Amino acid sequence: MLRLILPVAGILLLSPGIAAGGVSFVDAFDVPAGAGYVGSETCLDCHDDVGEFYANSPHSPDRGLAIPGTGIAGCEACHGPGSLHVEEDGDGFIIGPEILAGQGQGVKVAMCTQCHTDKGLEWTGGPHAGTDISCANCHTDQVHFAGGVTPVSDFRNKGEFCLQCHPAQVTDFRLPFRHRVLEGQIDCQDCHNPHADFDQTAWNGMNGVCLECHVEMEGPFVYEHEGVASEDCITCHRPHGSNHDKLLITESNSMCLQCHFEQGFNAGDGWTLGGRGHGGLLSDEARCFDCHTEVHGSNTDPNFKDQ
Ligand code: HEC
Ligand code: HEC
Ligand code: HEC
Ligand code: HEC
Ligand code: HEC
Ligand code: HEC
Ligand code: HEC
Ligand code: HEC
Ligand code: HEC
Ligand code: HEC
Repeated sequence: MLRLILPVAGILLLSPGIAAGGVSFVDAFDVPAGAGYVGSETCLDCHDDVGEFYANSPHSPDRGLAIPGTGIAGCEACHGPGSLHVEEDGDGFIIGPEILAGQGQGVKVAMCTQCHTDKGLEWTGGPHAGTDISCANCHTDQVHFAGGVTPVSDFRNKGEFCLQCHPAQVTDFRLPFRHRVLEGQIDCQDCHNPHADFDQTAWNGMNGVCLECHVEMEGPFVYEHEGVASEDCITCHRPHGSNHDKLLITESNSMCLQCHFEQGFNAGDGWTLGGRGHGGLLSDEARCFDCHTEVHGSNTDPNFKDQ
């Protein structure tokens, strides 16, 4: 069985300011000679509106959170050294929206992964790596200026958080058979880690996610079905929603025949599957899993029938 083992955050020795992937946040910019750190108190002399909002944020300057291994804290942990900006009454060098607009995703993510190293390690395996989306697009509140801080726990809100950017997926969750995301029974984040798609620490990638809830499909079974044990659940299921009961991709036997098509099959009465004539068995348009009910594996029957 395949196990993906990721390095645990903290074991990798990253130099201060260097995020996973080797991007150094401040070094990515042309910082003018002479720019130094002045501390958040100075920033708040002019940006008192920011400070007021910031008091409620996890990154509030009052908490003195510093980039590990450095004394760099508060506003300047994200905005870089501010002395020239201050000396020139707000005209001098500062890393803000203007400069950031010209930067790629890697640099924007590195602003945050200077401290959130675990997220930096996960990120490249995630669904949003290589897109235009970086940390601050989703965490506007924690970053500031959203007018109030929504705790990340509130991002579990019947899929609304994700659907604001993924409206096309709504239709999946309105199909007759579906995971009840819009009804609040489970959430997008139960299956998708926004920072790293599927739980990469669980066995078998995606299936590990499904098996966290559907434990009865995990086995071990005396008779494993290779078609389940060594394939993804989505070989047969549509995970968001489906027109077919049990979220099946189709109710027709083509689901099973994608693997069980054999030469002897479909040759009159001699239809064989694995050496067993099925001509008579399939005559009433029976579905394979009407007889082979224990399709995920069985403890009693090598052919997955329920007696
Ligand atoms: C002397 C007043 C003053 C001080 C002190 C000051 N700023 Fe500013 N800052 C300004 C002004 C003025 C602007 C331009 C505002 C605007 O364009 O609306 C500005 C703009 C900014 C911007 C936006 C830049 C952009 O790309 O548009 C950031 C970020 C910023 N300041 C951060 C800081 C930080 C961090 C500190 C502390 C190191 C700081 N400021 C200290 C006056 C100040
Ligand atoms: C956790 C990182 C982080 C911290 C800490 C932080 N900022 Fe920012 N700030 C950002 C990001 C990211 C943006 C750009 C937002 C955008 O592009 O819309 C920004 C934008 C700004 C702007 C420009 C606003 C605008 O809309 O033009 C100002 C001014 C600013 N920050 C000041 C501060 C001050 C002052 C502090 C400290 C009290 C501070 N920031 C702390 C990440 C941070
Ligand atoms: C100077 C280090 C530092 C930087 C830079 C930083 N963070 Fe944080 N952040 C922290 C720490 C430490 C906490 C945990 C605060 C606590 O214990 O409550 C935190 C908390 C958070 C939380 C809230 C977690 C929760 O459980 O509620 C989010 C979201 C977050 N950061 C996102 C970001 C984003 C996005 C950026 C970049 C724009 C960023 N951080 C940059 C240190 C940092
Ligand atoms: C596509 C949107 C999205 C992006 C991009 C994103 N996050 Fe998150 N983040 C979330 C959601 C949603 C949660 C809440 C997860 C949950 O419900 O279990 C979260 C939770 C967090 C938390 C607190 C819980 C935890 O897992 O530690 C931190 C810290 C955090 N994010 C930091 C970051 C950083 C740093 C980045 C960039 C490397 C980032 N996020 C990029 C959506 C996003
Ligand atoms: C701020 C907008 C935004 C938010 C919020 C957001 N995403 Fe995305 N997401 C994108 C963009 C842009 C892409 C890349 C383009 C695309 O495939 O749609 C993407 C890609 C993805 C992909 C990969 C799609 C593929 O075809 O491989 C998945 C999966 C995904 N997002 C899931 C989520 C989940 C789950 C959430 C909520 C935790 C979320 N996203 C929140 C903007 C966002
Ligand atoms: C039951 C688990 C599960 C839930 C809940 C779930 N997803 Fe997915 N999602 C998956 C799997 C598995 C795939 C991969 C499907 C494939 O490759 O065929 C996927 C694929 C995607 C994709 C890629 C495009 C596509 O449709 O195949 C996007 C975008 C996405 N999901 C967004 C979301 C959003 C947004 C939510 C919540 C509203 C959500 N997902 C809820 C399991 C889930
Ligand atoms: C967070 C828990 C959770 C995760 C993760 C999860 N599911 Fe589900 N699943 C449920 C719940 C709850 C139901 C609804 C059960 C009910 O209503 O009886 C369900 C229903 C189903 C059904 C239909 C069962 C029926 O009786 O109609 C299938 C098939 C299914 N899930 C497959 C998957 C697959 C495949 C994955 C991984 C991509 C997955 N699930 C991930 C919780 C989960
Ligand atoms: C080879 C195709 C196939 C694969 C692969 C597969 N399933 Fe199924 N699954 C089925 C069929 C067919 C049914 C419907 C059985 C029935 O109705 O008797 C089903 C039913 C289910 C049900 C509903 C069970 C019930 O008793 O109502 C769940 C939950 C489920 N599957 C989860 C999973 C998970 C999780 C995985 C991955 C580990 C998976 N399936 C892989 C074919 C498959
Ligand atoms: C992804 C491929 C795949 C799919 C889809 C699949 N199977 Fe299988 N199945 C296998 C493999 C591989 C074996 C191992 C036995 C062999 O063929 O030698 C197997 C074995 C079996 C066996 C036991 C026979 C034996 O020789 O051990 C039965 C019965 C069976 N499958 C029924 C089904 C049914 C019913 C479906 C549809 C619900 C299905 N299979 C879908 C790949 C698949
Ligand atoms: C009406 C019931 C029925 C239906 C429908 C049915 N089977 Fe079977 N299948 C059986 C029986 C009975 C056996 C023999 C089991 C035994 O000898 O214990 C069998 C055996 C098998 C075997 C194993 C043969 C061997 O011994 O190596 C495979 C593979 C198989 N079926 C696949 C399928 C597939 C794929 C479908 C759908 C196209 C299907 N079956 C539909 C009843 C059925």
